[in-house]
Amino acid sequence: MPKEEVNNLALRRALFFPSAEIYANAPSGFWEFGPIGHAIRRRIIEAWRKELVEKEGMIEISGAQILPEDVFKASGHLENFNDPIVQCKKCHSLARADKLIADKIDDIVPESLATNELDAMIKDHQVSCPKCKGKDFDKVKKFNMMMGLAIGATGDQPAYLRPETCQSIFLDFKRLYKNWRGDLPLGIAQAGKSFRNEIAPRNTLLRQREFGQMEIELFFDPERIDEVPAFDSVSDYELNLMLVNSGKVQKISCKDAASKKIVSGKFIAYYIACVQQFYNKLGVPLEKMRFRGLDKDEKAFYAKETWDFEIETDLGWIELMACNYRTDHDLKGHAEQSKQDLSVNENGRKFIPHVFELSAGIDRTLYTLLDLSFRKEKRGKEERNYLKLPPRVAPFLCAVFPLVKKDGLLEKAKEIYKSLIDYGFDVFFDEKGSIGKRYARVDEVGIPFAVTVDYDTMEDGTVTLRSRDSMEQKRVKVEELSGLLWDLKSAQKSF
Ligand code: GAP
Repeated sequence: MPKEEVNNLALRRALFFPSAEIYANAPSGFWEFGPIGHAIRRRIIEAWRKELVEKEGMIEISGAQILPEDVFKASGHLENFNDPIVQCKKCHSLARADKLIADKIDDIVPESLATNELDAMIKDHQVSCPKCKGKDFDKVKKFNMMMGLAIGATGDQPAYLRPETCQSIFLDFKRLYKNWRGDLPLGIAQAGKSFRNEIAPRNTLLRQREFGQMEIELFFDPERIDEVPAFDSVSDYELNLMLVNSGKVQKISCKDAASKKIVSGKFIAYYIACVQQFYNKLGVPLEKMRFRGLDKDEKAFYAKETWDFEIETDLGWIELMACNYRTDHDLKGHAEQSKQDLSVNENGRKFIPHVFELSAGIDRTLYTLLDLSFRKEKRGKEERNYLKLPPRVAPFLCAVFPLVKKDGLLEKAKEIYKSLIDYGFDVFFDEKGSIGKRYARVDEVGIPFAVTVDYDTMEDGTVTLRSRDSMEQKRVKVEELSGLLWDLKSAQKSF
């Protein structure tokens, strides 16, 4: 859906809105999630937890958001987590040099290019300041994006808000490895907030300074990168791969991707397939997704191989997940800095495990699902908007409405509402306004089913069940409602 429609819906229904918005000087890049936005966000995390973490036998942790400086010395962030910035000499506004050039030439510009190369490109392409249109810039500088703070009353312990959730996974690896199963491969996941001092936050949730990540670090023995017991289940499954600098997506089976060394091994192909299947289950059509291979200038400093998982939206292709082969970069760095042994003893060898990472943005996933699920529909003179979200990421599975508040209907509706919650469903209750308006309100935020309690309910114990997508209605016995909702939720039945 057009960006304006997403933003209007977000503000009108308080899905998300700027933080500290009542203060005119509040910094940009921080967002609040209202009840519906927060609920969709939770569903996305729950779906990720079920489909990737639990089904694939991984474990999940929750680590600290503030970590000491030594952690980021070891990880390389202190030295390398930089954006190239440039200042306009006329209006003094700051901008990301790579993005300015990319906007001008309509192509990707690697942020890792040397500052003098970026200076030359700004000149060659006659890039102008987006604010004042001036063409005179200072030299490009590197700016570290971590948000620093000082711990304790004396403030003598430098620390940073984590710029990615995964560093605590590396720090905790040895303990979890020993305490959990004691063998590789081991997948450790974490969902939480990350913080980056973005120079130019933009497009609401797409480039924020505080944002959600769901990250998975898969620790494995590099000598067994082609030993994946479950590989047969994806062997013929086709991945949408856009090879480095190829400019086009090719459908390549997991077995070909691994055997032709398009990816480093079966381990990588298997988990890339899991990602593609996961987003497909969230309702993203296969033709709208791709894994874009990054060349050496575009990859992060810790990655040997990167596939950016991207989805096509109204704003173009958006990167939702970075799939990074980080090798032993992080564990090795932390072992050296902390002087602790982070190696394992397996298969008759002592070695530092390698890591393949699936690092997804929660808020970018939310934005993308809104964009893809928005529908505008005209039936006769009636026009309606609805979000065609799959039940598992809808904010609530169903709504319960009393037709009117009198004659015991309100109490009966509340009773049904509470019993559905007891069954474990996420349910929304609304008693205000005409029934038509209530349907329109839940359609607009993507609630797939609505249950209406009317006078017949009091007589024969049935309710009206309505489908958001088809607007069809059917009578259902109250005692059969939970079973039917369960089947509809798990797609075992269609409406
Ligand atoms: N641990 C690896 C890592 O953090 P990344 O490519 O920097 O890799 C992973 O980030 C994902 O986090 C991105 O694909 C994106 O979905 C999300 N993300 C990164 N920066 C973001 C920002 N400023 N605002 C919103 N989401 C962001």
